[in-house]
Amino acid sequence: MVTSHRFIVTGLLALVFTLPLHSKTPLYKKADAPVDARVEDLLGRMNLDEKIGQLNQRAYWHNDEGRKLFDPMIEAGGLGSLMNVNDPASADRLQRIAVEKSRLGIPLLIARDVIHGYKTIFPIPLGQAATFSPEIAREGARIAAVEASSDGVRWTFAPMIDIARDARWGRIAEGCGEDPYLTSVMADAMVRGFQNGDSVGSPTSLAACAKHFVAYGAAEGGRDYNATGVSERELRQTYLPPFKSALDAGAMTFMASFNANDGVPSSCNKRILTDILRKEWGFDGFVVSDCFSVRELVPHRVAANEAEAAVKCLTAGVDMDMEDGIYAAHLDSLVKAGLVSVDDIDRAVRGILRTKFMLGLFENPYVVTQQSVKYAPSHLAAARRAALESAILLKNDGDVLPFDRTKVRKLLITGPMADARYNQLGTWIFDGEKEHTVTLLDAFRDIYGDSLEIVYSPGLGNPRKSDPETMAAAVAAAADADAIVVAVGEDAILSGEGHCMADLGLVGGQSQLVGQLKATGKPLVMIVMAGRPLAIGREADMADAVIYSFHPGTMGGPALADLLMGRESPSGKTPVTFPSTSGQCPIYYNHANTGRPATGAELGIADIPDDAGNTFLGCTSYYLDAGHKPLYPFGYGLTYTTFAYSDLALDKEQYAPDGTIHVSFTLTNTGKREATEVVQLYTADLVASVTPSVADLRRFDRVRLAPGESRRVEFDLPVSELAIVGSDLVSRVEPGEFSLRVGPDSTRGCETKFSVK
Ligand code: NOJ
Repeated sequence: MVTSHRFIVTGLLALVFTLPLHSKTPLYKKADAPVDARVEDLLGRMNLDEKIGQLNQRAYWHNDEGRKLFDPMIEAGGLGSLMNVNDPASADRLQRIAVEKSRLGIPLLIARDVIHGYKTIFPIPLGQAATFSPEIAREGARIAAVEASSDGVRWTFAPMIDIARDARWGRIAEGCGEDPYLTSVMADAMVRGFQNGDSVGSPTSLAACAKHFVAYGAAEGGRDYNATGVSERELRQTYLPPFKSALDAGAMTFMASFNANDGVPSSCNKRILTDILRKEWGFDGFVVSDCFSVRELVPHRVAANEAEAAVKCLTAGVDMDMEDGIYAAHLDSLVKAGLVSVDDIDRAVRGILRTKFMLGLFENPYVVTQQSVKYAPSHLAAARRAALESAILLKNDGDVLPFDRTKVRKLLITGPMADARYNQLGTWIFDGEKEHTVTLLDAFRDIYGDSLEIVYSPGLGNPRKSDPETMAAAVAAAADADAIVVAVGEDAILSGEGHCMADLGLVGGQSQLVGQLKATGKPLVMIVMAGRPLAIGREADMADAVIYSFHPGTMGGPALADLLMGRESPSGKTPVTFPSTSGQCPIYYNHANTGRPATGAELGIADIPDDAGNTFLGCTSYYLDAGHKPLYPFGYGLTYTTFAYSDLALDKEQYAPDGTIHVSFTLTNTGKREATEVVQLYTADLVASVTPSVADLRRFDRVRLAPGESRRVEFDLPVSELAIVGSDLVSRVEPGEFSLRVGPDSTRGCETKFSVK
């Protein structure tokens, strides 16, 4: 796509298109002209200042100073994009200056972090991933776009599709977890939702931004902004596929990540931004830096000053400079000094103009949608469904859930997340309003208050508190309750950008609270609302049942209440491996086998005899104090019924590399309630030229069955999807034997083998 041929062709197109018309309207203003021709026509009319202006993105200040600074800048064509404008009047006012007062009338691209909802907040992306439902993710993004565009936003910095294998990293909340395939499927769905499928030019679409490119989630020690050391082979195997999927779904923009991978900050990494993204993948949109990441080449110590940083970032492939004004300040003199070419600037401008044309901004620059879309009943219903499907039942001893209404007449609701209007919304909700949140307590009172006596005692003021008196009050309130629901977890501020934790245990006095409630002997149900998989083994042991909901968003309360009361059955599955302790991080299911894999027969510290010799333990890959197994594996989740997998069959025993594997098996609901199972298909390459993963998720589906019902589930899996990236960085299917498993999670199920010849 990005070749000189293309420009010759589009130049000719521009010529052909203008010739017979003899009109005074410039070609770029003609809605029916081809986008590339419009881009070239407009580019040809722009002076250097106007071009540099398009590369400049700033954050708006909603005050007089903001007006004084930005109004003239926009009028002079000095600004391509503004972020954080979030009301229609300001959006239209600013847009009017750009369209009606600037020389060429190029509209602004108004941007915002709309991450998991705009007003109606959906579960955090990690929670959405737990649904294993691309439809939930697509619908969430669509609704976010409809609501945000009603305030003038036309570009979101989402989806965040960083693979994260370390729960200490606070931004694990914002992505879809550890699996490249699940993340790729969700990336595709979210891009289509934001960009309104094929109708990207409609007024309710937002340009998507695939971020953060790339390997940002591999931050050493799970500490945000930290260095990463991912080889290009591993990038191609694990970290790049979700971005390719976003691009294939039409993502118009990419954001360079903050991290330096293998010594090169992404913002000046030509290999990934130009060689791979543009040349290999044919990307023709634009790349934005992350906030101030151009300037940050100086503290990274790969540029001596800001001007040098600007040269490095622009020539590597960062087209738009977010927030720090470095391009605007230096590019003009850098071009004059011959350090940056006009060709590089044109490349950057082209992608930005193309995006604006494709969004229909030249035709519809102003806000046209209805304000009544915010918190529309259908949006709230979709958010409730998303919260419902994202909740994961981790434990249910003695079938304590759903509550038996003949036994549970009086219920104690306690815990710092039971009525946490703000914290339940999760990280990155600039525009969500806690006044609209329906908490667990609200929901129980509103929906089940007539048939159930609800007693509420907070237990702790917030998750980080440790107050013996409030805890004692909750324990006292349990005395005459038939069952207890304790909602624990993390405040929203403990996850998200820059919010990392070294210790993944429950914070504050929460563990103590759970322990004291356990001591009452009442049936104890623990709900966990958090931005990451927490190491909750101790508390889960104490509880009879555990539901993990991540931060479930605006409608988390009713979703959870319906699950507890049995109106619905849980169906979420873990989108990340849950560590048993912080020290197991990074931990993920699709790891390599190692030369000395743990067998499960290893001894722990308590079992080691005194004065045992150095090799006594056999030397396998595990921790003496934490073994090798996680608390819960990837893909895990229970429900109120049981499912059996049987009769796994493949259509052949041997396949050609260009063949397709037809997989079928029978799924039976062997329990007493209707429920949905997320069926999962994994493969493993048994011998390869480089160490393969022990398992890779290849397909999944949500299958709903009535009690006693059986269904034949079928998947088609092209053999090409089994490719592994070799040491030569080429991805290919290597002939040989493979195993294939279908099951309820990444560790169990029915298995068979096949070969590729
Ligand atoms: C920094 C974050 O890394 C990025 O995800 C976000 O979109 C930008 N700031 C803009 O707020």
